[in-house]
Amino acid sequence: MDKKYYITTPIYYINDVPHIGHAYTTIAADIMARYKRLGGYRVFFLTGTDEHGQKVEKAAALSGIHPREHADSMVGRFTELWETLNISNTGFIRTTEERHRKVVQHVFDKVRENGDIYLGEYEDWYCVPCETYYTEMQLKDGLCPDCRRKPEKLKEESYFFRLSKYTQPLLDHMESHRDFVMPEIRYNEVASFVKGGLRDLSVSRTSFSWGIKVPSDDRHIVYVWFDALTNYLTGIGYLEDEEAFKSFWPCDAHLIGKDILRFHAVYWPSFLMSYGLEPPKHIFAHGWWTIEGQKMSKSLGNVVDPHEVVRTYGVDEFRFFLFREVPFGLDGDFSKQAIVNRINGDLANDLGNLTSRTVTMIGKFLKGKIETPEKKGGADDHVETSAMRLIKEYRKEMEVFGFHKALQNVFEIMSILNKYIDSEAPWKLAKEGDVRVKTVMFNLWNGIRIAAVLLYPFMPGKSQLIWKALGIGKSIETCDLEEEMRFYTPSDIAPIDKIPPIFPRIEETA
Ligand code: MSP
Repeated sequence: MDKKYYITTPIYYINDVPHIGHAYTTIAADIMARYKRLGGYRVFFLTGTDEHGQKVEKAAALSGIHPREHADSMVGRFTELWETLNISNTGFIRTTEERHRKVVQHVFDKVRENGDIYLGEYEDWYCVPCETYYTEMQLKDGLCPDCRRKPEKLKEESYFFRLSKYTQPLLDHMESHRDFVMPEIRYNEVASFVKGGLRDLSVSRTSFSWGIKVPSDDRHIVYVWFDALTNYLTGIGYLEDEEAFKSFWPCDAHLIGKDILRFHAVYWPSFLMSYGLEPPKHIFAHGWWTIEGQKMSKSLGNVVDPHEVVRTYGVDEFRFFLFREVPFGLDGDFSKQAIVNRINGDLANDLGNLTSRTVTMIGKFLKGKIETPEKKGGADDHVETSAMRLIKEYRKEMEVFGFHKALQNVFEIMSILNKYIDSEAPWKLAKEGDVRVKTVMFNLWNGIRIAAVLLYPFMPGKSQLIWKALGIGKSIETCDLEEEMRFYTPSDIAPIDKIPPIFPRIEETA
């Protein structure tokens, strides 16, 4: 059976400076992509940028350039960040690409042919200076949420999508696919929204022009969300490489933030049903980060620049912190103290120290060699059986985006190994000439090797360093997960000696 996995991030608005929120979703997708590759899956991991719409049009006009040129000048900020964060995406899509225009127009046309798009009138609150429509809900005290001026009720001709028709089909789909929206709290949120009945959705605009034209009616621009969501088809070769497309669709997981859930879990599957494609298998919505207890906002000046965090703490430390600190799906708080605590505690103390002690002792007591255990006691078996149990738990959690619990299981292995090294005191065994020293070092070596593999999706660089310290020359990235998840005697390892600290402690400044 072909094991394939297709995962996506949202495509990011080109106008924003990439921040911790963008980094979060993208790293999460990267973790899953790397995990699946370890398990032998053929993975397509797609990310990209959302480049149409009124905001982009305006920003470009302010600089006196074409919106496309404006987008060209901004996209590098995202691609550079993905490099810095060691993101292993297979595809990158920009909605201004020609291949995407074709797909959007084709899908729009087909849905219209199917009778699900009709011409009507769109009426809402329009802020003239901002040239933007707002719904009643979006207004703040009846004023424009942006410039605080009074909006007018305006009407505009618009194409509508018969979303109302999909109320029942969507509910049926959700009923038979309980993990369509994850986590459960988001599933319930979507289900209750849909149960309330869906209203038809305006899917075109005439008030600005930076977008994809409605086929055979170029007074209209396709609504940005219809355009943006369709990227998930374009990105894997729809209309260009039908075979590639068919081999990856339906998408296994759209990762998103909780703020864009309705677009993904209500509109998107309805468009797909109307068009005649299967809905994605899972939509996972994560929570939001606050910064030192406050909402992150430009006006507060507390927007976290991932480049800076990486410069200060290191890329793998940042990646690890985001998923160790907060259950994936819930909101969390980013603070300097919290990241320093994680680095000094989990990484420097629990993992780093254990690794360097073990490596030093293998060098000193066993001349850098791992041998098959000669004598085994109860504590030795306990290490192996616990590791096997925790690996199982880890894998179960990874399958359902339980990154936080997956990491807890890895650190339980660390804690068992740390207790083991202290209780079995291999330095004493060596001094007494007891052959059990081989057994203890065998177990420690295997436990750390396995922990490094389990940590690899989160910390690809550091995990490889741990392997290197253990004398393993192979690339961890291409290792076989099944093969590595057991205790074995290595046949060819490099001489093991002292190593520089893999996770240096962060000195705390008051
Ligand atoms: N362009 C749309 C998505 C279209 S997908 C077909 C968009 N872009 S965005 O640039 O605003 O993307 C934002 C992503 O970053 C969302 O998933 C959002 O949840 C996430 N975050 C923005 N701020 C965030 C935090 N403070 N914390 C966590 N994630 C946050 O929406």
